[in-house]
Amino acid sequence: MSQLEPNSILFVYGTKSSGKSTVMRRVIKELENSNIVFFYYNLREHATYSKEEFLEVFFEKDKNKVVRNNLILDLKVFKIGIEENYDFSKLSLNDVFKKIKSSINTVIKNGKKPVLIFDELQKLKNIYFNGNKPLLNELFNLFVSLTKMEHLCHVICLTSDTLFIEEIYRNSSLKNASKYYLIDWLRKNSIRNILKEEGFSEEEINYCLNYLSLPYEIVDLIENKKLGLTVEETIKQWINIEKDGLKYLIDTTDLDVEKIYNVLSKFNNKIKIYYDKEVKKEEMRYIKFLVENEILFYDVVNGIIKPTSIIEWIAIREVLK
Ligand SMILES: Nc1ncnc2c1ncn2[C@@H]1O[C@H](COP(=O)(O)OP(=O)(O)O)[C@@H](O)[C@H]1O
Ligand SMILES: [Mg+2]
Repeated sequence: MSQLEPNSILFVYGTKSSGKSTVMRRVIKELENSNIVFFYYNLREHATYSKEEFLEVFFEKDKNKVVRNNLILDLKVFKIGIEENYDFSKLSLNDVFKKIKSSINTVIKNGKKPVLIFDELQKLKNIYFNGNKPLLNELFNLFVSLTKMEHLCHVICLTSDTLFIEEIYRNSSLKNASKYYLIDWLRKNSIRNILKEEGFSEEEINYCLNYLSLPYEIVDLIENKKLGLTVEETIKQWINIEKDGLKYLIDTTDLDVEKIYNVLSKFNNKIKIYYDKEVKKEEMRYIKFLVENEILFYDVVNGIIKPTSIIEWIAIREVLK
């Protein structure tokens, strides 16, 4: 990554708990003593951000332009420094961008390579600056200029929100200026190796392989085993939780239930469908509803729609019975 000249914005996407943040943190950790300076912002903490909250998270009042982020103790990551007496309420969008650029240039002048990372970037969606300019749109313009135009700094954005990725993907000003990387379900072999290392028996592993797809499931399985639950019991619990969740979602929506079932029944005999061949225009509304509620995952880059996990797939088929 650091060897290549920055040329485009990298969007890392995948379902919630697919391991995006973990992968990113591991990369940062491994490059801790390299010449890369990571500006890392984890926006996961809040449900939404106001303009003021964004500024508080984004900047650190300090005399230096590059400041160690002391809120993240386990990683060597940095924030953009801003003068101590700066009045955030007077800060314009242009000022924000000037500060970012100036910090990035400081890093470069010191012979280092800046990398800008936003985890769960979609959280900045509803922030508007003076004159009602949406922050995110303007940020994208800045990112394009930092990468594709000026080749100053790598920009990496992570998100679990696939409808957001869809918006970005179809945004014409980001065409030819962005790349996409999917963190997909775990491969069977990786699951097998992890479970083996954790001391699960061959029989348990073979059972689990039919159900597991996300890393957090492995963590949960290990914890539950310590508490004395069998893998069968844990997996049965997960399926019940997802099944009830889906039933509740259907029972409480104003949308046409019949239409929702029609969409779900596409997954009766297969685990994924292709958007271009298998989705009718009038069905998209229901698919979006299921995507928003994390039942389905829409991979716009590959044109594939599938349940968010194998457990979710099983739950869907149970609800259809
Ligand atoms: N490769 C992995 N091996 C084991 N556990 C993992 C791995 N990747 C992620 N996890 C665990 O799975 C959970 C979800 O991962 P996270 O990175 O937060 O997902 P995301 O950012 O995609 O929502 C975390 O508890 C994390 O510790
Ligand atoms: Mg994350």
